Parts: sequence; C-alpha cells; structure tokens
Amino acid sequence: MSPFLKKDLRGGKDRRADKDRRKVDDPKYRVSEIDIVREQRSIKLVVKPNWDEIQKVRNESSEFLRTHGLPDDTVHALTMVTSELIENGIKYGNVKSPENELTVTIYIGETTITVEVVNPVDETAYNHLRRLDKIIQWIRGYQDPFQAYIERLKEVSKKPLYDEESGLGLVRIAYEGKAILDFFLGEDNMLNVSAVSNLEGYFGR
Ligand SMILES: Nc1ncnc2c1ncn2[C@@H]1O[C@H](COP(=O)(O)OP(=O)(O)OP(=O)(O)O)[C@@H](O)[C@H]1O
Ligand SMILES: [Mg+2]
Repeated sequence: MSPFLKKDLRGGKDRRADKDRRKVDDPKYRVSEIDIVREQRSIKLVVKPNWDEIQKVRNESSEFLRTHGLPDDTVHALTMVTSELIENGIKYGNVKSPENELTVTIYIGETTITVEVVNPVDETAYNHLRRLDKIIQWIRGYQDPFQAYIERLKEVSKKPLYDEESGLGLVRIAYEGKAILDFFLGEDNMLNVSAVSNLEGYFGR
C-alpha cells in the first residue's frame, strides 16, 4: 500500500462531487476544454491536461472570486494559488492520456477559502510525492511562511539557470496565498492537493 494513502473522512464532499458529476455530464455546462459547475459558494472546473487551459482556469477563478466580493489583492493571490496547483498537477500528474482530466475546485467557506486540485498519478510520481510531503512539512515548520519563502529564495538563487524545478510554487502558496497546504492520495491513484486560506488573514478581522 502506498505510504501516501489517507482516508478521506470528509463524506459530505463526496456527496457534493456526485451531485456535480451529473451536471458535468450536461452539455450546457461545457465551455471549450473546461467543464464548469457553478454552485452558490463553489466552482468546479474539469480541465484537460493541457498547458493552454491554465489561462482559462485563471480567468474563471478570478471571475468567481471577484463576483463573491473579494478584494483585488485576494483575487490575485488565490488565482496564483490555483495556477500553481494546476501547473503542478499537469507537471507531475499522470496526464499521458488526454482523458486523464484534472479537477479544480474553489470553495468559499465561512472563514476560509479552499482551492483543491485532483489529478491522477502513477508510480513514476512517487518520488515527487515524497518531495511534496517533505516540502509541505518543511513549510509547516515555520511559524511565519515568509521565512520559508526567504529560505527557498536563497536556495533557488544557488541553482543553475537551466534547472526547471525552481521549487517556489508551494512556498508562494503558503506565503502569498496565506494558505495551509495538504495532500492525500486516494485508493484510485487520484492525488488531491489542497490549499486552505484563512479569510481573516485577508480582511484583518
Ligand atoms: N501535484 C504534485 N504531484 C507530485 N509532486 C508534486 C506536486 N506538486 C509538487 N510536487 C513536488 O513538490 C516539489 C515542489 O513543488 P513546487 O511547486 O514548490 O516547485 P516546482 O513545481 O518544482 O517549481 P515551480 O512551481 O517554482 O515552477 C516539486 O518539484 C515536486 O517534486
Ligand atoms: Mg510548481
């Protein structure tokens, strides 16, 4: 059994997903390569594993957050969070087959906003999952994620220019997105990475 398996105890969420799926199958919700399900407090985007889709996801996320009255800074920060998570999903996920879609959900709660990306992975991603786990734990070790961000910047500045993995995405999510990161791997090899941002951090309440 994979060391990353973690039981999803949030049963309510699964029920919501089933409800959403009926709508996803409805062609009237289909917009180009993205299926969109809008609920009062959430938006769910089912996206093909294609780099060109990232900008569309960014646009849809921004619009959703803006229509919920969030200030521009918050909209930009959370759009960055969405963008970094989906980039990672495409980069490290099992997206060899175009049918292997990614799901992006943004949910506005009473005091938090959750951005969640779900994508299939295969055994070739396990080293990356170990790294993901390590980095998330490392970020959590800092009381102030800004310190983690600075430490990471120092490391990155020592790396050669041709290195593709700058390793800044997750610390940006923690620091600029004011988010707590988490992940689990479902039994069906679906990876779920989430970033939960505290709204109080944004509004200073
Ligand atoms: N969705 C994911 N699936 C598997 N591994 C992941 C995932 N997201 C991140 N990782 C692992 O965590 C590492 C750090 O991710 P992070 O987004 O911080 O940096 P990066 O993707 O390497 O570079 P950047 O985001 O700055 O372009 C990745 O290099 C990868 O090993
Ligand atoms: Mg990244």
